[in-house]
Amino acid sequence: MVIDRRLHPEGFAEIEAAVFPSPWTANAFLSESNRRYFSIWDEGQPVAYLAACAVLDETELWRIAVLPQFRRRGLAQFLLHALIDSCKNEKGTVIFLEVSSRNTVAIRFYKKAGFLQDGCRSNYYGPGDDALLMRLPI
Ligand SMILES: CC(C)(COP(=O)(O)OP(=O)(O)OC[C@H]1O[C@@H](n2cnc3c(N)ncnc32)[C@H](O)[C@@H]1OP(=O)(O)O)[C@@H](O)C(=O)NCCC(=O)NCCS
Repeated sequence: MVIDRRLHPEGFAEIEAAVFPSPWTANAFLSESNRRYFSIWDEGQPVAYLAACAVLDETELWRIAVLPQFRRRGLAQFLLHALIDSCKNEKGTVIFLEVSSRNTVAIRFYKKAGFLQDGCRSNYYGPGDDALLMRLPI
C-alpha cells in the first residue's frame, strides 16, 4: 500500500460513491481550494482518502473514508496521523470537524484519536440528527 498527497478527483469520487449516501462527484473536488488530501492506494486503486481544508493555524477535516472491505486495519488512523503531522509542520494549532450524531462509528474513531466534543447543533442534519462539533488541539 502507498500513501499519496495529491488530488485524485476520479479516484476519490469512486470512494465517495461506495461509502456515502450523498457522494461528492469528481467536479466537487475541482471546485475547492486550500484543500489537503491524503490517500492510500492498493494495487493501483484508491482504498481510503482524507480531505481537509487549512486556514491559517486551523484545519477543518472535511471527509475521511475507507472502502468497507479495508476497514478496521488502521487505515483511517494512518491518514489522520498524516494530516496531524502536516499540520504540526506548518504550525497548526487545531483540527476541527462536524459529524452526525448518528455516525457512531466515526464518533468512536474520532474519540479514540483524541478529539473532544465542544459543541452540538441540534437537528442540523434533520430531525433527531445533530451535528457534533469536535476539536483536536495539536
Ligand atoms: C470511520 C472510518 C473512516 C474508520 O476507518 P477505519 O480505517 O476502519 O478505522 P481504523 O481501522 O483506523 O480504526 C481506528 C479506531 O477507530 C475505532 N473504530 C473504527 N471503526 C470502528 C467500528 N466499526 N466500531 C467501533 N470502533 C471503530 C476503533 O477504536 C479503532 O481502533 P481499533 O481497531 O484498535 O479498535 C470508516 O468506518 C468509514 O469510512 N466510515 C464511513 C465514512 C464516514 O462515516 N466518515 C466519517 C465522516 S466524513
